[in-house]
Parts: sequence; structure tokens; C-alpha cells
Amino acid sequence: MNYDLIVIGGGPAGYLGAERAGQAGLRTLLIEKQYIGGVCLNVGCIPSKTLLYSAKIFDSVKHGSVYGVTAEGLKLDHSAIVDRKNKVVKALTGGVRAQLKKHGVTVVEGFAQIDGKVDDGYAVRVGNDVYVGKRLLIATGSAPAVPPIKGLKEGLERGFVLTSNEIFDLETVPASLVVIGGGVIGLEMASYFNSAGSKVTVVEMLDHIGGNIDLEISSILQAEYEAKGVEFKLRTKVVEVTADSVVCEINGETVTISADKVLLSVGRKPVVQGFGLENIGVEVMKGAITTDEQGRTNVPGVYAAGDVNGRSMLAHTAYREAEVCINNMTGRRDRMTYDSIPMVIYTNPEVAAVGETEESAKQKGMDVETVKLSMRYSGRYLAENHAGRGICKLVVDKKSRRIVGVNMIANYASEIIYGAGMMIDRFMTVEDVKRTVFPHPTVSEIIRECVFEL
Ligand code: FAD
Ligand code: NAI
Repeated sequence: MNYDLIVIGGGPAGYLGAERAGQAGLRTLLIEKQYIGGVCLNVGCIPSKTLLYSAKIFDSVKHGSVYGVTAEGLKLDHSAIVDRKNKVVKALTGGVRAQLKKHGVTVVEGFAQIDGKVDDGYAVRVGNDVYVGKRLLIATGSAPAVPPIKGLKEGLERGFVLTSNEIFDLETVPASLVVIGGGVIGLEMASYFNSAGSKVTVVEMLDHIGGNIDLEISSILQAEYEAKGVEFKLRTKVVEVTADSVVCEINGETVTISADKVLLSVGRKPVVQGFGLENIGVEVMKGAITTDEQGRTNVPGVYAAGDVNGRSMLAHTAYREAEVCINNMTGRRDRMTYDSIPMVIYTNPEVAAVGETEESAKQKGMDVETVKLSMRYSGRYLAENHAGRGICKLVVDKKSRRIVGVNMIANYASEIIYGAGMMIDRFMTVEDVKRTVFPHPTVSEIIRECVFEL
């Protein structure tokens, strides 16, 4: 069975790559071992956002009296939320299957093993069947990182410690949850389980939460969640997981935090082993497949996209990388740029950013000017947020007046940030943005307010 392209992995990189390849007229085979839609649709982006939306409704009604709305008998029904999540996932994965079919992609469900190079391409085995693809797109994604902490492996085996693979199907809300890692997954899940009633403690080894986000925004986010009852243990190292607790070291002291459940969210690792990459000599460096800006690996005809290249583990990056790969395969020269990829943390309030933060610009030696405004300059924000401490920070290159970074903490930021990404990607200056008409009243107007401060 011969194909123009074999795609290994049916997550965002794989399914979108296969769809685009089918659209471009390539005879395409997609092989997926577990779930079409990958991590994003089944145990990642979509499940988390579905749960978080329910929590947001619950929290809004809980504080509804400020807005003149009260309700009696308010309750968060976790199992109903999980049921709804399953329906959303089913609808979306069904949609992906339909799109693949529409574009003529053959889907095989099974584990793909690369056997080696053959005359007319690469042989890939699924069970007893061998398929040959002139080209390969490796889109095997990533899996939760599991650091060598005493008792952690055993904790995972007996279901005391969960990763994001298991947490979305928890049947009941744990009375207490310790989250190891205050990054994106840790904060989104801390947010949901805090709303759902768990006593949440986030243990983070750095001195701030949220990874590379703007440091002031990180501290505002922390303060917002502390006010909701989440406890943060920063600069804290987990040294052991026992039968019912997490043992940490804080400033040289040993502290034991008891928990009903533990979430491990300390990063993800590309899936590069166990399916025969070595049989065709694909280069793997620091645990990720090496790719160039066109998505090519070191092996002719073999491309890689998505989390597996370890560059920017986000679904929207995976989509664009897959498109770049297919464009280059089909003679349309295209290249990936990573400077204007937005990121969002879907907490309540949301954090969204694109381009440089004040700190990253300084680290790179850029000569920048930063303007910061309270979100309360936006009429719509004020109408809808009684106590939010949201801010927007614009980072601008002093000489060229180009926008090089936008960083926000406020609801709707997730829906606004792509526009900021376009400003950076299209090299827009402060003056260009001044001439742009923003709809009123919207939270997005904060960006317009910011440029008039410069
Ligand atoms: P994956 O989605 O990991 O898909 C890879 C697929 O390959 C899997 O289905 C796997 O079964 C399959 N596979 C692997 N090996 C083989 C093999 N040998 N044979 C056959 N099939 C194989 N990103 C965002 O942009 N926004 C978000 O809100 C967001 N939320 C997230 C929340 C959580 C809890 C998590 C864990 C991640 C989140 N992400 C989010 C990240 C996002 O899920 C990933 O960036 C995205 O899924 C990467 O897509 P991918 O196609 O590279 O890999
Ligand atoms: P992460 O890299 O975002 O955060 C991991 C955190 O754990 C970091 O703050 C790190 O300092 C900390 N850490 C590492 N080892 C530790 C240890 N031993 N003890 C305590 N803290 C430790 O990784 P996370 O949250 O697992 O998410 C993985 C990836 O999934 C993200 O990087 C992102 O690419 C993607 N994702 C994206 C989302 C979004 O776009 N909204 C949502 C969820 C995940």
C-alpha cells in the first residue's frame, strides 16, 4: 500500500497536516494509536477549557450580587461537568474524522513503527500491515515529564498522583489537591479545582508562577488566586511522595503537605522513542526531533511538526508547523517563524501574551520602551469586572516604534491577543495602531489606549 505521505500521530499537527495534504492532492495515510485529535482534543486544550468554563459560570454567579444577580441553591456538579466535557470532546473528534474523510485521508488506528528506507520511500508497519510513504510527517506529540522523585512512580501507579492524562476523568472532587509545578497546566487545574471546592496548594521550584510570563502579571495572578484560597509554595523542591503526602524542601526546611490527590505538571517531553526513528537515522537532540524552519528533519522527505520538535508546545504552533511542512512538500515555499506566537493561560482572569516581555527584551539587549495601563481604562472591562486588577503592557522598540510585545491579564485577553500577534508579525508601529479603529466598547480598546501613551 503506497502513499505520497504517511502521517504518524493524529493530534493537531498530524490531523491538520493530513487534511492539508489531502486538500493539496497528496494520497495521504494517517496512523493514530490511541485517539484521533491527540492530546489537545482528548486530554488537553479542550477538556481543560470545558471544565474551566463551567467553573467560570459558577464563580460569576457566586459573586453575582455585585451585578444585581442572585441565585439560590447554587451548586457545581462535577460529574455533570465531566459528562459535558465528554460530549464536547466527542463532537470535536467526530468533526476531525469527518474533515479527514472529506479530504480523502485514509485513517488507520494502530501503533506505527518505522521499519526503514525502501526504494520508493519509507516503510511503516502497523501490526502485520506494511505501508510505504514517499514522505513522512512525524507528529507523535509529547507526554507528561516524570522527574526522578522518591515515591512518585509508585504514587502514579496507584492513582494517588495524576497527570493531565487522568485528571479530567476524576469522578469526584478531591478535598485537597497538591499541584507539583506552577506552570500552565498546574495553574489551569488549580483554578478549576479551587472553584470546585478543593483545598489547592501549588508547589513551584522557581520564585514565580507561570513560567516566562511578565513578572508583574505573574504576581497579580498569584495574588488573585491567593485571594480565592489557593496556597503557593514557591522556591520549593519536592523531595518525596508518600502514601498520602508530598514532602518538600523550603529554604532548607522539610515541610510535609498532606493531600487527597496530587497533580504532576512539571512540563512535557516529546515522544521520540519506541517507534523506529533510529531505523531511518532521524536526528534527535536534547530529547526532541531537530527540524529546520521548513519543518524538515535531517532525513530527506521526512518532516516533523508539533510538540515532537520541542520548540513551542502549543496546539496553534502545531497547526502552523504542519501547514509549513505540507506547503514545502507540495512546492509552495513556506517557513516557520516563532516570534509572534501568542500564549494564553485560561485562568480567571486570563493571561495572554505575544512577543517580548519587558524582562525578555532587556535580556536580549533590545532598546525598548514599555507602557502599562490598568484594564480599568476599558469601559467594557469596568462594566464586567468589579474587583479585577487587570493590566496591559505594551513593549515597543524605541528606534523603530514597532510593537514587539503585548502582555495582558484580564478576561477576553485570549480573544484579543491574536490581533496583537498580527501587529508584531506585520511589523506594525505605534502610529499604525493609532490609525486602527477598534470596536467600542471592547476590552481590546486597551491596546489603543496604550499606544496613545507613547
Ligand atoms: P499530540 O496532541 O500529543 O498528538 C500526538 C498523537 O500521536 C497522539 O494522539 C498519540 O497517540 C499519537 N502517537 C504517538 N506515537 C504514535 C505512534 N507510534 N503511532 C501512532 N500514533 C502515535 N495548547 C494550546 O495551544 N492551548 C491550550 O489551551 C492547551 N491546553 C493544554 C492543556 C493540557 C492539559 C495539555 C496537556 C496540553 C495543552 N496544550 C494546549 C498543548 C497541546 O495539547 C499540544 O501542544 C498539542 O496537542 C500538540 O499537538 P501534536 O499533534 O504535536 O501532539
Ligand atoms: P510548564 O513548563 O508550563 O510548567 C512546569 C512548571 O513546573 C514550571 O513552572 C517549572 O518551574 C515547574 N517545575 C519543574 N520541575 C519542578 C519540580 N520538580 N518541582 C516543582 N516545580 C517544578 O509545563 P506544564 O504546566 O506541565 O505544561 C506543559 C506544556 O503544555 C506547556 O508548556 C504548554 O506548552 C502546554 N500547555 C498549554 C496550555 C495553554 O496554552 N493554555 C495549557 C496547558 C498546557
